[in-house]
Amino acid sequence: MRVLVVAMIAVIAAGAFFALKVKPPEVPVEKVMTKIVLVDDEFALVPTVESLNLNKRKVALGDELFHDRILSKNETISCASCHILAAGGDDNRAHSVGINGIVTAINTPTVFNSSLNFKQFWDGRADTLEEQVAGPLHNPSEMGLNWEEAILRLNKNASYKKKFEEVYTDGITEVNIADAIAEFERSLVTPNSSFDKFLQGDDKALDDVEKAGYLLFKSLGCVSCHNGAGIGGGMFQRMGAKRSYFEEGNTNELDFGRFNVTKKEADRYRFKVPSLRNIALTAPYFHNGSAKTLKDAVQVMARHQLARRLSEDEETKLVAFLRSLTGEYQGESLSRDGDDVK
Ligand code: HEC
Ligand code: HEC
Repeated sequence: MRVLVVAMIAVIAAGAFFALKVKPPEVPVEKVMTKIVLVDDEFALVPTVESLNLNKRKVALGDELFHDRILSKNETISCASCHILAAGGDDNRAHSVGINGIVTAINTPTVFNSSLNFKQFWDGRADTLEEQVAGPLHNPSEMGLNWEEAILRLNKNASYKKKFEEVYTDGITEVNIADAIAEFERSLVTPNSSFDKFLQGDDKALDDVEKAGYLLFKSLGCVSCHNGAGIGGGMFQRMGAKRSYFEEGNTNELDFGRFNVTKKEADRYRFKVPSLRNIALTAPYFHNGSAKTLKDAVQVMARHQLARRLSEDEETKLVAFLRSLTGEYQGESLSRDGDDVK
């Protein structure tokens, strides 16, 4: 039997910054960049234990739907085809493969801890997990199914019909399908990383190199963007905050990020800052899947977000720290290392 994860050990930036409850303020890039020294005090990472009250039946139903290919047009793809739980919640590809072999345009993020994100998708176009579900379902390069067909199919399936009726008075509806899947996604939390244990007072949970990496993560200013319960997932920031990342004429529409949602020039190239939990498992990195290893990603971040060139020693320490952010799912360590894959 599946044991539901009910406790999430979360790292918070400050009380009011708690991503589950309060929408964190958007920090202007300029402020982030000049106030790095304040990070240690203002963004102190403090662990907290949060109990998740989830409806177990909904979680089980959402789990089944998440893994069922019935929700794709030609019944070949499920959510789990791209979000493989045993592989860190993504598929370790720069671009995933949807129905009919069509390749997705943007890199697949992990579904683990997505409930900690203040918004969903790289450009934040969905406010909630419930709202997010329709995205991949309808997307012609992912599952390509409309709600009517999804509801029709599930209604023809006696087992689903029964299960939905047990949980929802109005049975199989668009809202209820999204609700069940979102509830399942809320169970995809991964507490008990070495870093969580360290923050809870187990000084031996991190070795000296990892500890040095944590200090660098704070002193360099990574924490000014990657903070909150998910160590990221709480704000939009420009890719290339300090030094331009995108080359003129060498971009496509997806590189415009948040701009595609708001059409505001100030939002061009801004993305949701990704959560760094389990980051060692989810290579390749960035919205375009361009960084193959954690080392590559850290270098790009230092250069373009902080205008810093890291020494090899600093790089090693930061990567070691990032590797300590791998947590547990259903009581087991998510140990598969996706680094250097594809
Ligand atoms: C063909 C691959 C594919 C399939 C199938 C797929 N996804 Fe995704 N998923 C993606 C990609 C690519 C993105 C990023 C899209 C974007 O940001 O524009 C994404 C984003 C997400 C996110 C947002 C995570 C974040 O950090 O912003 C969630 C949650 C999610 N998917 C859940 C699901 C669910 C639930 C299903 C099934 C209904 C599903 N996905 C099916 C590829 C896929
Ligand atoms: C100004 C805000 C900002 C700062 C500072 C920053 N990052 Fe990021 N980070 C981002 C954004 C935005 C992205 C997503 C960029 C993209 O996909 O194009 C990102 C992506 C990443 C990724 C890849 C995540 C993934 O799932 O693909 C890693 C790893 C990372 N950052 C680590 C770091 C480290 C280490 C530092 C410090 C050296 C740092 N970041 C500093 C904003 C920031």
